[in-house]
Amino acid sequence: MKKALIFGITGQDGSYLAEFLLGKGYEVTGVTRRVSINTTERISHILPKLNIVEGDITDAFNVMRVIEETEPDEVYNLAAQSHVGTSFSQTHLTLDVTAGGVWNILEAIRHSPRCFDMRFYQASTSELFGKNYDETENGEKFQNEKTQFMPQSPYAVAKMAAHNMVRIYREGYGMHASSGILFNHESERRGEHFVTRKITKWVGEFVNFKRAVRKEYNLKIIETVFTEDKIMFKCGNTGEVLSKFGKLRLGNLDAYRDWGHAADYVRAMWMMLQQDSPDDYVIATGESHTIREFLDAAFNAVEIEDWSDYVMIDPEFYRPAEVDYLRGCPRKAKSVLQWEPEISFEELAYRMVKHDVKTQGLQRPDLQKVPANSFKTRQIHMSDVQEEGQESMAQCPPHNEMEFG
Ligand code: NAP
Ligand code: GDD
Repeated sequence: MKKALIFGITGQDGSYLAEFLLGKGYEVTGVTRRVSINTTERISHILPKLNIVEGDITDAFNVMRVIEETEPDEVYNLAAQSHVGTSFSQTHLTLDVTAGGVWNILEAIRHSPRCFDMRFYQASTSELFGKNYDETENGEKFQNEKTQFMPQSPYAVAKMAAHNMVRIYREGYGMHASSGILFNHESERRGEHFVTRKITKWVGEFVNFKRAVRKEYNLKIIETVFTEDKIMFKCGNTGEVLSKFGKLRLGNLDAYRDWGHAADYVRAMWMMLQQDSPDDYVIATGESHTIREFLDAAFNAVEIEDWSDYVMIDPEFYRPAEVDYLRGCPRKAKSVLQWEPEISFEELAYRMVKHDVKTQGLQRPDLQKVPANSFKTRQIHMSDVQEEGQESMAQCPPHNEMEFG
């Protein structure tokens, strides 16, 4: 039985990778940090099948001991301070974890008597490209393995250092060490502070809140009124204000991202380690969308056609430096690894919304009755008035095969 060791098993990717490797018959060990609350929610369904050891990648001795004791065939490093926005305010921590942690793992493998019996995967990122892209003859922008890196955040600088170290250990010490340059990938398990999940979680909460208002007041028709920062619910008959809900606050809506589903991307990680020779691969869908387009897909899933009144721009969520355009060319992964994404952008958004409409219902905020005339109305939208029980999920469009041009 093959043995895999996953740093970052409690994260989005860690949970999908652990599931995938168990399905392949691996013995899977995951490293979790000692924390004051439970962080194993994403792996709770497979926990009895996993070996869990405590550790932190910033602790070199700990990393060395874990690798020595578990004797893995494959080591996957998914652990990182992975939030780009946070990296601007926690620069040192980001460097220590996201770069320094990788040194610790590489050194532990290099000094192990089993060095050449282990294969290593490092979670690199499309953030490495930052401001830079290449263009096809038709002027289409893209990034591939040859595109020059131009990082735009402390997170990306840390990941670039780690990426280069992996290459140096591969070339200098002959280690089987590969980096997956993964473009954004999301899922129902995505952290709630990344933009896609922030949007779908809000949609889930909003739909459930509105249902709860109807139920509480036993109303068939409610009217939705938009103020600058709130959505007010009024009784359709009397005009009485029943409750209010904060708008979805976001930053830059014009950035482009190449979004795929995490379940597809962990498959690529494993495929890289099954190759005879280690290498770096871009993993992406080849399709790019703005945050506005993700908003379209997420709100359309609950049959709201125009989200503009539900969203407000909050400068707090702008970053000091932005990555404006990401669109990966996965040609190498397709030809060498035979890897293809299976879940489309539309299906991704639909699945995330569906999940959050279902689960956020359990956590709806308490109803709050506010007196009439305690707010200024900006716009009134009767189009949003629906009959009780009518909120439904729109049909998800079929997945069209995407070909990179
Ligand atoms: P995530 O959900 O934020 O998970 C990060 C994981 O790292 C968590 O398990 C976290 O543990 C762990 N971790 C953080 N600091 C650690 C430390 N000092 N020692 C040990 N573990 C630590 O991230 P993800 O989306 O799954 O991404 C996985 C990896 O791929 C990350 O390295 C990320 O930078 C990279 N990446 C992600 C994407 C994407 O779009 N998702 C794209 C490219 C690259 P806790 O649960 O205890 O916090
Ligand atoms: N998080 C967040 N929150 N982002 C927002 C918001 C907001 O309220 N409003 C707008 N955005 C914009 C960001 O400015 C960025 O342009 C885009 O939405 C995506 O932000 P995130 O979802 O936080 O992801 P990211 O692209 O910065 O980073 C993710 O992908 C990288 C791969 O390209 C992370 O998973 C990284 O770990 C990963 O390396």
